[in-house]
Amino acid sequence: MNQVLDIIKKRRSWRAFEAKTVPKKLVEQVINAGNEAPSGMNSQPWRFVVIESEAMRRRLFDAAYPKWRRVYEDLMRNPASAKEAEKYGKIEDPVYYRAPVVVFVIGKGAVNCALCCENMMLAAESLGLGNCYVYFGSLIRDDPVIVEALELGEKDEIYGPILLGYPKGKPEVPPKKPAKVKWV
Ligand SMILES: Cc1cc2nc3c(=O)[nH]c(=O)nc-3n(C[C@H](O)[C@H](O)[C@H](O)COP(=O)(O)O)c2cc1C
Repeated sequence: MNQVLDIIKKRRSWRAFEAKTVPKKLVEQVINAGNEAPSGMNSQPWRFVVIESEAMRRRLFDAAYPKWRRVYEDLMRNPASAKEAEKYGKIEDPVYYRAPVVVFVIGKGAVNCALCCENMMLAAESLGLGNCYVYFGSLIRDDPVIVEALELGEKDEIYGPILLGYPKGKPEVPPKKPAKVKWV
């Protein structure tokens, strides 16, 4: 298998990280890979905010957790989802999973920014960094200090954030359905 296909196959969403600093050089490589993504008319309609400070990570958690909690409680009330949801309730930080680096991709246009995020995750995998796209981590707009730190304008959309860190334990390997394909 070639290296790109191998990385695509190996990439997993990591939800546990070592409490170990990620060298800035690696974070930059991940961001540069995102920045190389295709975009409509090469518009590159994204920018990146890297959060490493413990105080800011705490603040992010405090902003996002209540929203996560509401969804979690809804899932727990439904017998069809309760079993799967239950394990997340036991995690200390079920939003950012105590990742040492949180990278917000801020921009306009879901397709462009999603391609950027996928490039970042594949690059992270290739560099031995655990990574995860965490939608719940984007629900932080209630906190004006965070809005200011991220320089979020009203029209700015948040993609990711993408968590980065040295992976801890084993990742979950979710089953993938075979591709549905019609050849004409
Ligand atoms: C748009 C999007 C939002 C996601 N949000 C979260 C999230 O908030 N929390 C989380 O733990 N995982 C999140 N994930 C990761 C998915 O749960 C994960 O990709 C999926 O279970 C498949 O696992 P895999 O990435 O290992 O293939 C998100 C993924 C995507 C693409």
